Amino acid sequence: FDLQNLSTMACPSTATFFASITRLDQLTQAIQWARQEKLARFVIGEGSNLLLASQINGLVLNIKLKGIQVSKIDETHSLVVVQSGENWHKTVVELSKQHLHGLENLSFIPGSVGASPVQNIGAYGVEVSQLIEYVEYFDPSNSEIFKIQAADCEFRYRDSIFKKGTLKDVIIVSVAFKLSGEFKPDQSYAGLPKTIGSPQQWIEQIGEVRWSKLPKPEQTPNAGSFFKNPIISKNEFIQIQTKHPEIVFFYFEDQIKIPAGWLIDQLGFKGKINSAGVGCYHNQALVLINTQKKPRDNILEKALEIKQSVKAHFDIDLEIEPQLLG
Ligand code: EPU
Repeated sequence: FDLQNLSTMACPSTATFFASITRLDQLTQAIQWARQEKLARFVIGEGSNLLLASQINGLVLNIKLKGIQVSKIDETHSLVVVQSGENWHKTVVELSKQHLHGLENLSFIPGSVGASPVQNIGAYGVEVSQLIEYVEYFDPSNSEIFKIQAADCEFRYRDSIFKKGTLKDVIIVSVAFKLSGEFKPDQSYAGLPKTIGSPQQWIEQIGEVRWSKLPKPEQTPNAGSFFKNPIISKNEFIQIQTKHPEIVFFYFEDQIKIPAGWLIDQLGFKGKINSAGVGCYHNQALVLINTQKKPRDNILEKALEIKQSVKAHFDIDLEIEPQLLG
């Protein structure tokens, strides 16, 4: 089965088996079958944060569960339970129209609702974990559905219990958000407008900021930021800063976060595309683009070159952000 169009990085990829899941009972059946056949299982939503191997041996489950349920919590707040196969951006826009606010700064992020807690998506001063109440997941080991409260999801910057923790193998079926009837968007990100108009206008403005820096995946294959912004201790930072006084940094809890895009930009990678069509986007060095839809190895080769260069020059370790599948 051809998976190339199922991930925004557009690497050629084929899987031995594939199932599109629109109902929970299909999930149970597919998992049972994979177990019988002793097949490895893989899960894809909209593939916006994935790097697919050229050949995936096993069963790929494409989660397409749909539906949104809203119930009142109190005068101002509602609980909104969204099935994991809903498109992220469409959901944000639809909820905002229904006066269910809080997610607007995260509009236009490519991907599905079910993927949002995995890497704890974040942009323009907001992380999705701030709005999540709980997550429901299917546990393939016993085919049961469980609910985990946000406080137990181990949410961190671009990380959660679903990414590499004990729940790495579960399948998220829905995400519950606590949203507000009042529209008070976070304005802390430097590039955002100073005045707040209607929620719809705000979403449009978020789109303008976003697409002024980031490539649209349907035009230029990419997986968003390719590396996490490294977080290091203050002591480590002081040593690096002594050698590189111009280094850009942000305070992050009691540590220091360094914009990886700045590090990569300093080393001259921005806008340089190699003969395979792979390189750093001209407006945002942190985004690797795959203009000729080459296999994952071409991307990983470029990533390694960047990682080694950043290590050699700044003595900082970069960590790849998208997940490798297969
Ligand atoms: N910078 C450069 N050169 C570049 C890119 C960035 O010097 O080529 C500098 C900027 O000048 C700025 C700093 O780096 O001072 C930060 O840049 P930016 O505000 O664009 O944000 P980022 O840290 O590169 C993060 C997220 C994005 C998110 C934006 C906006 C990560 C890994 N990425 O990028 O998320 O949209 O902030 O909030 O944290 C994603 O995860 O896929 C993603 C796009």
